[in-house]
Amino acid sequence: MSTNSEAERPNVARLYDYYLGGAHNFAVDREFADRSAGDVPTAAMVQQSRAFLRRAVRVCVANGIRQFLDLGSGIPTAGNVHEVAQQADPTCRVVYVDNEPATVAHSRTMLRDNAGAAIAEADIRDVPAVLGAPEVRDLLDLSRPVAVLMVAILPHVADHDRPAELVARYRDAVADGSYLVVSHLTADEQPELVAKVVGMAAETRTPIVARSKSDFEAMLAGFDLLEPGLVLAPSWRGEGDPVTGAEAVSYGAVGVKRPAG
Ligand SMILES: C[S@@+](CC[C@H](N)C(=O)[O-])C[C@H]1O[C@@H](n2cnc3c(N)ncnc32)[C@H](O)[C@@H]1O
Repeated sequence: MSTNSEAERPNVARLYDYYLGGAHNFAVDREFADRSAGDVPTAAMVQQSRAFLRRAVRVCVANGIRQFLDLGSGIPTAGNVHEVAQQADPTCRVVYVDNEPATVAHSRTMLRDNAGAAIAEADIRDVPAVLGAPEVRDLLDLSRPVAVLMVAILPHVADHDRPAELVARYRDAVADGSYLVVSHLTADEQPELVAKVVGMAAETRTPIVARSKSDFEAMLAGFDLLEPGLVLAPSWRGEGDPVTGAEAVSYGAVGVKRPAG
C-alpha cells in the first residue's frame, strides 16, 4: 500500500479507518490510537462525525441531490458517502478529494469497480485544481446542484489559509441550490478534551485547529441552513439525546446555496 516512510508516522486517514473498524491502517497507526485511547475517546468522536455525515448525505439525496464532492475525504471506508448515497439511489455520483498520496492510491483501488465514484488527488485549498481535476470533470456536472462536503476537514485549514474564504470560493463555484455539509471541531464545550485532541494531532503530519461557534458561523455565509441550523453535530437530526462528553466536540450544519441578489 505504501512506502516505508509513510508507515513511520501515524496518518489521520488511516487512524480514521482504524477507528471505524476498517483494515487500511498500519501498526504505527494502531499503536498511536491504542496509546492515546485512555486519554481521548477518539473512536467515539470519529464515529459520531461519520454518523453526522451519513445523516446529512441521506437528507441531501432525499432533497434531490445526486452528485457529491467530498473534500478531504480520507479513505472511503465503512459507511462512506458513495455507499450511503448509492444505496439510496444507485445513480448518485461521488468524487472524493484528498492530498495524501497513499490515501488516494488506496481509495482508487477500493473504488475501481464503481463507475459512479472516484477520488481526485488535489489540495482542497487549490479550488481550480479541485474543480478542474479529471475525476470531477468526468463525473460531476457543476452547472447543476451538487453537495459539497467539508466534514472534519476545515480544522486542517490554518487561519492563514482563510477557511471562511475557502468555503465561499466553493460556494461561488457551484450552482444555486447546491448543498454544503460541514462540521468543525470546537473547544467551546469540552476545552480540556479538545486540547488533548489538538495535541495528539500535532504528532501527525496533519495538525488541526479547533474553532468557536462564531468562527464556524462565518464559514456558512450565503447558505440557508436546514433545520435545526448550526448545532453540535450529534444534534443535527440525531436521536435527540443530550450531547455530552466526547460527542460535544464538533459543530455541524447543512446549508443550501442562496441565489445571488
Ligand atoms: C480527519 S480526515 C476527515 C475524513 C472525512 N472527511 C471524514 O469525515 O471521515 C482529514 C482528511 O483530509 C485530508 N487532508 C488534510 N488536508 C488536506 C488538504 N489541504 N487537501 C486535501 N486533503 C486534505 C487528510 O489527508 C485526511 O485524509
